[in-house]
Amino acid sequence: MIDAIRKRRSIRNFLKKDVEEEKLREVLTAAMFSPNSWGTRPWEFIVVRDPETKKALAKSKDHAGFVEKAPVVIAVCYNIKKGTRFKEDSAIAAEHIHLEAVNQGLASCFVQIADAGDPPGSAEPLVKELLKIPEDIRVMCLMPLGYAVRELKEHGDSEYDPTKVHNERF
Ligand SMILES: Cc1cc2nc3c(=O)[nH]c(=O)nc-3n(C[C@H](O)[C@H](O)[C@H](O)COP(=O)(O)O)c2cc1C
Repeated sequence: MIDAIRKRRSIRNFLKKDVEEEKLREVLTAAMFSPNSWGTRPWEFIVVRDPETKKALAKSKDHAGFVEKAPVVIAVCYNIKKGTRFKEDSAIAAEHIHLEAVNQGLASCFVQIADAGDPPGSAEPLVKELLKIPEDIRVMCLMPLGYAVRELKEHGDSEYDPTKVHNERF
């Protein structure tokens, strides 16, 4: 497990190579194995492959332009009628997507949509309109998925910061 965690980097350049359906299925399965508050499983995932849709998603806010180049983009959403911790649940599901992507030899990046944009909050309505998302379903993030053009340096032991760890009390 720590190997995938070390390898997991935010990748923003993807090869023009498609993502196999079996790999996508594994990634989505990992998302659905995520811990979730009271077993409410509030997540919804929209798999986007259409180039025009990806292009429009890329324009939904700054720092999202690269999603256009990913063969697959997963919009990670949550149902506000399912429990109260839907935001946390969907963010954790996004991380499961990222880690299983690495495990499958793929790469991804968490692209914030909730509360994002200029002005803040402007990105989500654009994404909702584009993907025909119903009222009670909200969008946490986009997870582009594909093969990295270039792997980034793995996380290493030097990032372990003992000053961040507090024993017994802060
Ligand atoms: C909540 C959250 C929101 C993020 N939003 C964006 C984003 O909108 N665009 C982007 O390119 N990267 C985004 N990132 C990726 C971070 O920039 C990245 O995780 C951070 O620089 C650490 O690099 P690493 O993931 O390679 O370890 C986001 C990450 C998180 C956790």
